[in-house]
Amino acid sequence: MKRKLVIWLTWSGVLWGAAGLCAVFFFQPKLQSAFIPGSTTRGHHQIENDCQVCHTPWMSVKTDACNQCHEEDLKKHRDTHPMSKFTDPRNADRLQTIAADECVTCHQEHRPEITHAMGVTQPDDFCIHCHQDVGTDRPTHAGLPFTGCNASGCHNYHDNTALYEAFIDKRKNDPANNRRQQVVTRAPRPEPKTPTVPGVFPEDTDPQVLHDWQASAHARAGVSCAECHQEGGDVAKPWIQRPGMDSCARCHEGPVKGFKTGLHGMRVAAGLSPMTPAQARIPMLASAAHSELTCNSCHAPHAYDTRKAAAESCQSCHDDTHTRAYAASPHAKLWAAEISGVGKPGTGVSCATCHLPRTSRFDENDEKIVSVEHNQNANLRPNDKMIRTVCLDCHGMPMVLDALADRALIDRNFDGPPSVHVESIDLILKRKALKAQSK
Ligand code: HEC
Ligand code: HEC
Ligand code: HEC
Ligand code: HEC
Ligand code: HEC
Ligand code: HEC
Ligand code: HEC
Ligand code: HEC
Ligand code: HEC
Ligand code: HEC
Repeated sequence: MKRKLVIWLTWSGVLWGAAGLCAVFFFQPKLQSAFIPGSTTRGHHQIENDCQVCHTPWMSVKTDACNQCHEEDLKKHRDTHPMSKFTDPRNADRLQTIAADECVTCHQEHRPEITHAMGVTQPDDFCIHCHQDVGTDRPTHAGLPFTGCNASGCHNYHDNTALYEAFIDKRKNDPANNRRQQVVTRAPRPEPKTPTVPGVFPEDTDPQVLHDWQASAHARAGVSCAECHQEGGDVAKPWIQRPGMDSCARCHEGPVKGFKTGLHGMRVAAGLSPMTPAQARIPMLASAAHSELTCNSCHAPHAYDTRKAAAESCQSCHDDTHTRAYAASPHAKLWAAEISGVGKPGTGVSCATCHLPRTSRFDENDEKIVSVEHNQNANLRPNDKMIRTVCLDCHGMPMVLDALADRALIDRNFDGPPSVHVESIDLILKRKALKAQSK
């Protein structure tokens, strides 16, 4: 009887101890980070201490965890190899050599020694597992190395919206520059509402604030001080001296959502403190090290000058070769011309033209709505995502396919013609010639 009690007490002690350790482990990010097996990829390093966004309590990773952040985007870009392709029994044989029905088969974490670009942890030639017959099915591909399938401008595993054959074929003879070199323009600023009333505000307010607000699109659209400084714009509520992002979200849902989806806002989205340049993995100016990334980083409050936001603001934090090279590029000259009024609206190319591009859609009244994509990672990688969203407004397909495959040209921020050539168009022409021959 006594022995049983001792055993029972020992076991319960062990179990309680284990439960306690687990609890400490899951509620103490600092402790958890000690268990990280290796450096986390560039896409996730900002949230790496938030183990539970990816891991189950038993430390495994479910595809659902990845889907909560990536599913919508992969769907939007018509993923060429969606999970559903591999849960289809007809393709079951394809999974015998590579378990493509799980994200972690190709995207492990904390393994820098095997991590390639875009968080891929498979060897460069992994397409061979399922496409070993491509050389016989497509004579133009005979003898091509499998390490080159997803080279820039050829194919992607997920997003081929700018690279499928019919799309390239239609544009294969385009000249380097379009006749109309212009991106879509934003609606003219709203007509001033008269009289523009700021409403009630603290007496000791810096006159500059009032001055900036008066000249802004907000004043013109009748957005008073209270709209941002008092909850819900309700003048009966207390004055908030420094309104946060929530106040903007009430009227600008799109920009807030976009901001939170990319590397600028992913920490805010996770409920952590905002990102700062000091925590970045890419080169940043020391002078900006501790400035927190919020809407105000690009839009000085009250002035909200979108031109400053489009290039000047970026250059006050970013400090990589590509960013530094921008000022001397032909694109920067076009942008300088546009903001000085010499160039027509939409003909300049700022950082934002490429990284926070404008998108247009028609609302229920058939009115054109132009908005700005605030997720600067949405078209960043693979970089051919920029072809449709940006480059084709001004350039032809053959030139931009080559330009985006030219790493050195990207580093010099597109200061001249590309010196790399992608063979996609040549292969299409070759296939047509072979077809004609066999007829
Ligand atoms: C962005 C998602 C993500 C976050 C955040 C994350 N992990 Fe992971 N972790 C993964 C993935 C993916 C794997 C690989 C799983 C596999 O291969 O099945 C992994 C693997 C592991 C492994 C197993 C390594 C091995 O070799 O088997 C450990 C241990 C681990 N993570 C610990 C942590 C800890 C501790 C944290 C938080 C401090 C954390 N992870 C945060 C995604 C993440
Ligand atoms: C909390 C949201 C979140 C979760 C969970 C998450 N990711 Fe991400 N992931 C991001 C963000 C944000 C980025 C960076 C922006 C981008 O590149 O789109 C990113 C980037 C990536 C990239 C591209 C990296 C690069 O260098 O371009 C891959 C691949 C990726 N994630 C796969 C996964 C996989 C696989 C999982 C599940 C283990 C996962 N993600 C879980 C938000 C998330
Ligand atoms: C069989 C391998 C494989 C599997 C499985 C896989 N990926 Fe990928 N993934 C890649 C490759 C290769 C790239 C590099 C870019 C490309 O070729 O599309 C990539 C790139 C990405 C990117 C960044 C580029 C982009 O187009 O957004 C994200 C995000 C991503 N994968 C998420 C996922 C998620 C989420 C899953 C699971 C639902 C998944 N991947 C499953 C191979 C894979
Ligand atoms: C796990 C198996 C598997 C892997 C690995 C794989 N694919 Fe596929 N791929 C498929 C299947 C299944 C299809 C559907 C057509 C078919 O049956 O061939 C397909 C179709 C395609 C298509 C044609 C898409 C279309 O709609 O016309 C391209 C292009 C492609 N894959 C490229 C690649 C590239 C590039 C890689 C490597 C980065 C790769 N695939 C890796 C299974 C795979
Ligand atoms: C579109 C939203 C918006 C409107 C409209 C607005 N503000 Fe602000 N205001 C902000 C934000 C955001 C901050 C916080 C800036 C920061 O955190 O640095 C701020 C900060 C302030 C501050 C504190 C500045 C400081 O340096 O301490 C004062 C005072 C102020 N606003 C007064 C006003 C007055 C007066 C009006 C009307 C004439 C007004 N605001 C209209 C968003 C707005
Ligand atoms: C009560 C609604 C409301 C709130 C709250 C609000 N805005 Fe606005 N905002 C507008 C309207 C209306 C416009 C003018 C029409 C347009 O450009 O969409 C505008 C325009 C803008 C513009 C474009 C300016 C230009 O010159 O084209 C920016 C940038 C902006 N807002 C940022 C913010 C930020 C940041 C916050 C939070 C601090 C905020 N807004 C809060 C309603 C609001
Ligand atoms: C990285 C810099 C950057 C950050 C951070 C940023 N913006 Fe912007 N935003 C811009 C630029 C650049 C434009 C104008 C681009 C153009 O004219 O094409 C813009 C335009 C806008 C517009 C007018 C266009 C539209 O889509 O309605 C609004 C509103 C806006 N921003 C709100 C916000 C809010 C709210 C936040 C915070 C969640 C925010 N921005 C964060 C750079 C930024
Ligand atoms: C307050 C400083 C700050 C401002 C202003 C700013 N950024 Fe950033 N940016 C960052 C930080 C920090 C990161 C995250 C880097 C990391 O995670 O390593 C980042 C990430 C990025 C990335 C993704 C890089 C990658 O490798 O995935 C791009 C692209 C980018 N910013 C472009 C811009 C553009 C364009 C502007 C202006 C419209 C801008 N940024 C304004 C600080 C800033
Ligand atoms: C003509 C389009 C274009 C312009 C203009 C442009 N970029 Fe880029 N940017 C790109 C492309 C393409 C990439 C490469 C994406 C890849 O392949 O990784 C890139 C990459 C980046 C990166 C990621 C760098 C890294 O190390 O991962 C940052 C940050 C960035 N750009 C910021 C800026 C800033 C800031 C400006 C303005 C001073 C700017 N860009 C102007 C097209 C452009
Ligand atoms: C608003 C229009 C516009 C957009 C958008 C644009 N460009 Fe340009 N780009 C130009 C103009 C105009 C020139 C100068 C052409 C010339 O002098 O022949 C130029 C020059 C270039 C050059 C140098 C060409 C040379 O022969 O010197 C390259 C490379 C280039 N752009 C690539 C790109 C890429 C890649 C993108 C998309 C990420 C892009 N551009 C987006 C208008 C644009």
